[in-house]
Amino acid sequence: MAHRVIIWATGAIGKTCLRAVLQRRDLELVGLFVYSERKEGVDAGVIARFPETGVLATRSRSEILALDADLVIHTARLQVPYETHDEDIIALLRSGKNVITTAGNHYPQAHGAERARRFEAACREGNSTLYGVGMNPGFLLERMVLGLTGLCVDLDSVEVEELLDASTMPDPDFVFNVMGMGGSIDDVDLFSGALPHLFDQLYGEAIQFFGDRTGVAFDRIESDHRVLPALRDLEVNAGTITEGTIAATEWRWHGIVEGRRFVTLSVIWTMDPTMESYRGRDHWRVEIHGKPELHLTLNMTDPTDSPYKTKAGQYITAGPVMNAIDDVIAAPSGIFSPAVFAPYRRSLN
Ligand SMILES: NC(=O)c1ccc[n+]([C@@H]2O[C@H](COP(=O)([O-])OP(=O)(O)OC[C@H]3O[C@@H](n4cnc5c(N)ncnc54)[C@H](OP(=O)(O)O)[C@@H]3O)[C@@H](O)[C@H]2O)c1
Repeated sequence: MAHRVIIWATGAIGKTCLRAVLQRRDLELVGLFVYSERKEGVDAGVIARFPETGVLATRSRSEILALDADLVIHTARLQVPYETHDEDIIALLRSGKNVITTAGNHYPQAHGAERARRFEAACREGNSTLYGVGMNPGFLLERMVLGLTGLCVDLDSVEVEELLDASTMPDPDFVFNVMGMGGSIDDVDLFSGALPHLFDQLYGEAIQFFGDRTGVAFDRIESDHRVLPALRDLEVNAGTITEGTIAATEWRWHGIVEGRRFVTLSVIWTMDPTMESYRGRDHWRVEIHGKPELHLTLNMTDPTDSPYKTKAGQYITAGPVMNAIDDVIAAPSGIFSPAVFAPYRRSLN
């Protein structure tokens, strides 16, 4: 029997997942939640630019909660504060639906036992499973780099960098309010402001997962963020970034072990990929220092033969969601922990 799936939100990632669900014979779309008034009552097929499905988009949470479904693919937009979506996710889990989300909650344990306990309790009540996944966070550090550490006899440190062109991102709310682009360089508080706090929480989960799987205890996670100004007015998909305002953000964290940097994660988003410091650089770069020394670069290319606007960055986020469905549905109730086969373990040395 096909797994019954609900899609929660139809932004770039949600639509990519929606099309993937509609194309899979082992999945049946049974519900669609949207935030936009404009999409309310619209057939899922119309939203996906597919044939009509008979499933109409709703803005009613109770309608969605009442549905009989195996899984909700939750692709709501990240919000400040980070915990904004907790109540929705907990209600879905309590109603007996497994949840795969791309909007955080990759490793709730990173924020302490109490936060994890709330999700675990909801999972127990609904006999359901929660999994937060995507490329980064979700796959990059937690699956790919951890997997590579399994090649090491000794591991001194790991540096991981993501550098993405954000100028094609269409949504002004996301670009200006969540990513912080176009803001004042002078007013931004890179240490205790709302945005650094949001990203500290989000990416801190990936770093903590990495530490726990490699068997190290962090003394602390240090942040080392910076922003760069636009060198000219930039016309991007989401609007205008005025010269001198924030045009690039570099979020960077170091997981410190015994006073030294054990893992560094840099997440760089730029509205101007032609900037001298970013031009020609790889999308992802991994440096593993130890025995052996390993260097990896990874780049993605946008499709050229698709009738949809979907970019490689959206496929690379939706892929780990779609490929986890069977495992998440089959998993025992609780917070899902993806298998990483034989990573490096500090405790074995
Ligand atoms: N881990 C990763 O690698 C990774 C990569 C990319 C994105 N993400 C995350 O995946 C999620 C979806 O990304 P996206 O690129 O699809 O985002 P998006 O296009 O900006 O928006 C997603 C959808 O969220 C809904 N939305 C509107 N207002 C909202 C609100 N106030 N609160 C919550 N949702 C609202 C809308 O749904 P409707 O249009 O249906 O009304 C919107 O289309 C985000 O949380 C993003 O941070 C993760």
